[in-house]
Amino acid sequence: GTETHDLFSGDFWTDPHPAYAALRTEEPVRELALPDGKAWLISRYADVRAAFVDPRLSKDWRWTLPADQREGQPAAPIPMMILMDPPDHTRLRKLVGRSFTVRRMNDLQPRVEEITQELLDALPAEGPVDLMRQYAFLVPVLVICELLGVPAEDRDMFSAWSSVMVDDSPQEEKFAAMGSLNGYLAELIERKRTEPDDALLSGLLAVSDADGDRLSSEELVAMATLLLIAGHETTVNLIGNGVLALLTHPEQRARLQADPSLITSAVEEFLRFESPVANAPMRFASEDVEYSGVTIPAGSTVMLGLAAANRDPEWLEDPERLDITRDSSSGVFFGHGIHFCLGAQLARTEGRVAIGKLIAQRPDLALAVDPSELVYRESTLVRGLSRLPVTPGEPA
Ligand code: HEM
Repeated sequence: GTETHDLFSGDFWTDPHPAYAALRTEEPVRELALPDGKAWLISRYADVRAAFVDPRLSKDWRWTLPADQREGQPAAPIPMMILMDPPDHTRLRKLVGRSFTVRRMNDLQPRVEEITQELLDALPAEGPVDLMRQYAFLVPVLVICELLGVPAEDRDMFSAWSSVMVDDSPQEEKFAAMGSLNGYLAELIERKRTEPDDALLSGLLAVSDADGDRLSSEELVAMATLLLIAGHETTVNLIGNGVLALLTHPEQRARLQADPSLITSAVEEFLRFESPVANAPMRFASEDVEYSGVTIPAGSTVMLGLAAANRDPEWLEDPERLDITRDSSSGVFFGHGIHFCLGAQLARTEGRVAIGKLIAQRPDLALAVDPSELVYRESTLVRGLSRLPVTPGEPA
């Protein structure tokens, strides 16, 4: 059917997985009412993988307009590559790729460890503390400061704006914080022109391709903003969801404590089991597109259901079970195809370090509330806790 229904309401936020399972089996391609419009959700693993590489599912929002109104509209509201199709996307991705290297990510790892250790040392033994606010939130934002080259004295301010953008603050405050961040990043980029350092922004200022093509100032600000938006809230929720999964599955936690090297497969499993990007951002059908026998009409908005796909029994055996030893690395939590997450390596490092160290160093870490009292953010995009009250316990 094409009528919408209220999937995203009520019990959905506490546990969305029964609803996703019903969609996968009964209505694998379904139009849904969102808080701000309508979108089709594709929920089977095989369909989601295929849709990610389907050029008819475009990032260009102008497909939602009648043909005679597209002319003269900008392709992307902001010059961010996640909002673009080839060749514009290809150009930006290539330019950023010259600076966003495996080497740079490897060099960041010791800093990720130091940042995490400082935050861990600051956690009191007595609780309760909100692990989201005092830990999960701070690791990624401080790592992004490090990545971009935000000076130490600006980090509290930077982190405060970012927190407004990802917490439950009113929409006007979010816009204001976004404006401040944009202004700050534009200034920081100008500063890096005269005082370059080893960090990414200076790298991005310096890159040009074989034809001498460069990022414009506006594109640089948009790229820095994209890295912050894409890299912050997502990683916060990897850490929060991962820690909660261990706290609610004591036998899995015991295995990790007995063998810390399991953290590598454990992080893949956390990403699969409670995918931080529950539904991948919008795509638009440039023509009629059919999946699982259902036609999505041209001009529709389409979401790719990562959380649903990652628990598809057609893809993985016993998907409702958390098993940190299994190989979940072919899950679709970082997307697939040309927009595959640029920060996947960094996110994995942050998840391994932040969750691994916490579990190893705070053996008595415990939930400070009953699991039934946990509150999730009401977002159709990300899956994550509003708060995670814990008693950290004495350091090991
Ligand atoms: C793209 C997930 C962390 C930067 C994506 C996409 C997903 C994703 C699903 C594809 C979106 C689409 O196709 O529409 C995640 C998850 C993360 C994470 C689950 C953490 C657990 C990061 C980090 C950074 C980052 C740490 C950078 C510091 C990006 C960028 C894109 C992207 C720039 C756009 C790539 C493009 O358009 O070509 N991410 N991400 N992400 N991610 Fe991540």
